[in-house]
Amino acid sequence: MDKTRTGWSRATAIGAGAVAVALLAPAGAAGAQSAPVPPAGANLNQATLSNLLAAMQGESYAYAKYDAYRQVASRPLAGLWSRTANTELRDHFAGFAAAYKLAGTNAANLQAAIAGENYETTLMYPPFAARAAAAGDKQAAQLFNEIAADEADHRDFFGQALAAITTGGSVPSAPTVQPVKIVVSTSNVSAQTKNDLLTAMHGEAFAHAKYLAYAQAARARGSARLAQLFTGTSNVELREHFAAEANLAGLAGSSRANLLDAVSGETAEATVIYPDAAQQAYQAGDRAVGNLFMETAHDEARHATGFINALWSLVPIRGPMVKSPSPR
Ligand SMILES: [Fe+2]
Ligand SMILES: [Fe+2]
Ligand SMILES: [Fe+2]
Repeated sequence: MDKTRTGWSRATAIGAGAVAVALLAPAGAAGAQSAPVPPAGANLNQATLSNLLAAMQGESYAYAKYDAYRQVASRPLAGLWSRTANTELRDHFAGFAAAYKLAGTNAANLQAAIAGENYETTLMYPPFAARAAAAGDKQAAQLFNEIAADEADHRDFFGQALAAITTGGSVPSAPTVQPVKIVVSTSNVSAQTKNDLLTAMHGEAFAHAKYLAYAQAARARGSARLAQLFTGTSNVELREHFAAEANLAGLAGSSRANLLDAVSGETAEATVIYPDAAQQAYQAGDRAVGNLFMETAHDEARHATGFINALWSLVPIRGPMVKSPSPR
């Protein structure tokens, strides 16, 4: 699969200045209603906030994707995917989330989570399922319906947790995860279903990372049970929902295809997306965020180089590269 032609390259996903919610509600989504934007605690220019949100979405998707590539890779490559994925989540996503002040109070985080789950279960997945069924993509239709039901449960668990922390009671247990193994696959679905799968994968990847940030905030406030609920739910988003969708979308391909996809995404971030976002932040007077975008751009350039080197390693050089001069 040529993932650079899906229209979902990271360049598209994090276009500088783009309103990031467009990711979660592409043209044609029923009701054309956008996914709710998580509230920002930071006092920053609106364009800076939009770029930070888009960057968080791009980084969370990069993590989920590289983690999927890791699962189908052989040893030395698996380590590269794993290290890079961790940088995307624990350094880049975390840095952008801190600048955006993504995590608020436990109550605010639960309200944001409830809004996101409610959007997915009522407005996003049902039309995806209906369209997939109409296109004859039975497996995808079934998956979308199953996930919609899970998201309704998540919404209700978070609702119970919100009631528990505001009026007393117990925070519900975290849902159990039944991990789906990522496999090398090709997509056999219609173009519309493929696009819906990719939209859903972006939403699941962002939910995963967002809930980890909310869990960390809950833990810091001594709310261990709430932290567990966020962590457990985040694992369902990644290990069940994202993974099952990725297998139907044909996300993971050959080592070569996966590396080429990564080089393309990293290069776009390093050369266009983050430098543009930095420039906008500097112009708006948000200097620290501008510096953060530029630091991240440098990291992405290193990632691109690492992936290019890995591509070369797929064709090891045998013997000397240049002929020795023949003796006179
Ligand atoms: Fe990154
Ligand atoms: Fe969910
Ligand atoms: Fe990267």
